[in-house]
Amino acid sequence: MKKDFAKVLITKEEIAAKVKEVAARITEDYKGESVLFVCILKGSVHFYSDLTREIDLPLTMDFMSISSYGAGTTSSGEVKMLKDLDKTINGKHVIIVEDIIDSGNTLSYLKRLLSSRQPASIKICTLLDKPSRRKVDLTPDYCCFTIPDEFVVGYGLDYDELYRNEKEIYVLDPAVYSE
Ligand code: PRP
Repeated sequence: MKKDFAKVLITKEEIAAKVKEVAARITEDYKGESVLFVCILKGSVHFYSDLTREIDLPLTMDFMSISSYGAGTTSSGEVKMLKDLDKTINGKHVIIVEDIIDSGNTLSYLKRLLSSRQPASIKICTLLDKPSRRKVDLTPDYCCFTIPDEFVVGYGLDYDELYRNEKEIYVLDPAVYSE
């Protein structure tokens, strides 16, 4: 175990198996359609890359960058758009791909924003869900893992921009963020 981590929460094998399973469900649900996958930078980058490569549908990709204000281990509830989509989504089937839903503020804002652009449909696919932290009513359509209220890093998730390149998902040692 590397020194900054308290424990492994989800191994790379568990991630790969679950990503395949969710991708197969999406492929089945959208049979005969093409789908626009929206990557919410930066945390979902590895999940997005692995998920889309397991999808057997005609798909297009676009990227958005969103930031919830505030540093540290919790989001503040305010959402700021750093980069919008390149193309219009009018009439398209859209799946928003996120790494984690915590309070739900970010995805609730994003879903409202993208819904106002008249897509054919809009769904949410998240790698991780922490339902115990929810502040708004929001349920993902596809979720790989429901996790307890612990601060996790790795496989795209960061603390202070670090650990995104780790292959497994770890619980961060609280000593790291209480320093
Ligand atoms: C994280 C995550 C979600 C959001 C979830 O993004 O990727 O977008 O927080 O929290 P919420 O449900 O409480 O809104 P972050 O702002 O840390 O950016 P990052 O993906 O670039 O790390």
